[in-house]
Amino acid sequence: MQLYGVDPATVRRAVEMIRERDLADHIDLNFGCPVPKVTRRGGGGVLPWKTELFTRIVRAAVEAAGPEVPVTVKTRIGIDDDHQTFRDAGLIAQEVGAAAIALHGRTVVQHYSGNARWDAITELKELITDIPVLGNGDIWSAEDAIEMMEQTGCDGVVVGRGCQGRPWLFADLAAGFAGKPDRVQPSMGDIAVILRRHAELLIEFFEDEGRALRDLRKHVAWYFKGYPVGGEMRHRLATMESLADLDAKLAELDLDSPYPGSAVEGPRGRAGTPKKAVVPEGWMASRELSDAHATRLHEAELDTSGG
Ligand SMILES: Cc1cc2nc3c(=O)[nH]c(=O)nc-3n(C[C@H](O)[C@H](O)[C@H](O)COP(=O)(O)O)c2cc1C
Repeated sequence: MQLYGVDPATVRRAVEMIRERDLADHIDLNFGCPVPKVTRRGGGGVLPWKTELFTRIVRAAVEAAGPEVPVTVKTRIGIDDDHQTFRDAGLIAQEVGAAAIALHGRTVVQHYSGNARWDAITELKELITDIPVLGNGDIWSAEDAIEMMEQTGCDGVVVGRGCQGRPWLFADLAAGFAGKPDRVQPSMGDIAVILRRHAELLIEFFEDEGRALRDLRKHVAWYFKGYPVGGEMRHRLATMESLADLDAKLAELDLDSPYPGSAVEGPRGRAGTPKKAVVPEGWMASRELSDAHATRLHEAELDTSGG
């Protein structure tokens, strides 16, 4: 389970609750979110700038998790190139007992744009010697993952957008790491089966068919990226309301259509352009948390977000 938090006491209590209810085998702390509504108050990717606060949050989580539940940290290079935090974050995570540190090779300002800077992952791997360093950014295939590990020396990889609409990427990664050439190459018919299963699981999860099918819409676009599905059909798939509706539309597809190859490989998902980092006024001036900033952070507790 991944947690986003800005307050050591709250994070501690959250981890205790997860443990009491035996909800997770592993807890990851998210210090990578670039979304303005989170960073505006000092949360997510801009939080590690405040080193003491960062230390207290990670330590609280590690203590509350106990020896059986590993706590890992995920972060970015920093706020921007002039305000990098990944080295300190790695050293602190290692010092206070995190089980691993994952680095997304972009700054908050970069959001998801451009290429991830794998050289930062190399640098972190050289700096952090006691816990595994996991690399993240621009892994679209098993080959990319192997290349990242060879290039940076990192101990494992974290996948983001590459698995959107391609959940079998993990099978490819497992095969690649095992030195096998096998790659999953689904036909349109295979995609229809996977999509149908995804819909069933979402219905089970939400216990609400309409809501599940609405959630599925974005996945549909990702699943069919690169497959020969016309614009009109894509539009109809993006407006479905029920499982019966999905079935009817899937039946109209050319299910024998083979894996389209390179058209479905490579970058996918959100990329965008660099964006100014939205931080509390005066945030970058000091690496210590002022009282005024501490108050704003509490307000950030009320928000939820990914990224
Ligand atoms: C729509 C979206 C939602 C995301 N949500 C999370 C999240 O909740 N937690 C997290 O650690 N990273 C989140 N990320 C970031 C990814 O995990 C990953 O760090 C980033 O996309 C870079 O890896 P990639 O180049 O493989 O996509 C999100 C990314 C996107 C595009």
